[in-house]
Amino acid sequence: MNFENILIASENGIGQITINRPSKLNALNVATIKELHDGLESLNNNPEIKVIIITGEGEKAFVAGADISEFAHFTVDQGAQLAQQGQELLFNFIENLNTPVIAAVNGFALGGGLELAMACHIRIASDNAKMGLPEVSLGVIPGYGGTQRLPQLVGKGRAMEMIMTAGMITAEEAYRTGLVNHVVPQAELLDFTKSLAQRIMKNSPVAIGKAIESVNANFTDGVNGFDSEIINFGKCFGTGDFIEGTTAFLEKRKADFKGN
Ligand code: COA
Repeated sequence: MNFENILIASENGIGQITINRPSKLNALNVATIKELHDGLESLNNNPEIKVIIITGEGEKAFVAGADISEFAHFTVDQGAQLAQQGQELLFNFIENLNTPVIAAVNGFALGGGLELAMACHIRIASDNAKMGLPEVSLGVIPGYGGTQRLPQLVGKGRAMEMIMTAGMITAEEAYRTGLVNHVVPQAELLDFTKSLAQRIMKNSPVAIGKAIESVNANFTDGVNGFDSEIINFGKCFGTGDFIEGTTAFLEKRKADFKGN
């Protein structure tokens, strides 16, 4: 696959996607959104890849938002279509991947950039990162899931304040409010993220995929999360990973999960 706006690498079971438009602070144009979808799909379909990391090129920005130059002249219908296509192709797609996706937020994560990080399963920020949803300062609202996922992560009141002020918060504030799981010095961001990925990779990929599905069920309209948990819990008993995990425990050895 040839990509113009992203870089893909994989090593030791970790797939890394780097958004690579540093001269535009990695702003998400439509082409980049499509490439991210395709890159994530190919990593998710690769059984060797156990965890995916998304980051931005350079030391300044993760992603400084949707590419404003692309939608500045859109009509009402085009605006709605932009949000719908982006949500389906990238943001909901990431959230529902059964491979864990970690955002390594290496600088500005604004608008669509913060929405991208929030669609990932886990967020780690570098100490220089700044996060916000500045859309109302442009006369628009977050369109890639920000009005839904920010309240889920930080609570309704804090989300309302961030959205209405259009302001930025520091990595430390993001940590305090639960928006990111960890804050680390920028130079250590990727190593730290990879070490977290390695801890995840020791566990059953099948069980992790089902856990993601059941956690997400709590936030999905018309789906009962407890029912999803019961069904997925039962399904685990029919997997090779469950046999391996329980057998390894009883034999006092480390499990060697095959992901089946
Ligand atoms: N869409 C399109 N281009 C963007 C962009 C975006 N969201 N964010 C940054 N860029 C471009 C700038 O236009 C500039 O391009 P140019 O050199 O061709 O003029 C380049 O990236 C560098 O940005 P610049 O604004 O010069 O950097 P800065 O350090 O002065 O400011 C920010 C950094 C993040 C504060 C500022 O770029 C910004 O406010 N960006 C928009 C954030 C936003 O509103 N995002 C939500 C979009 S819905």
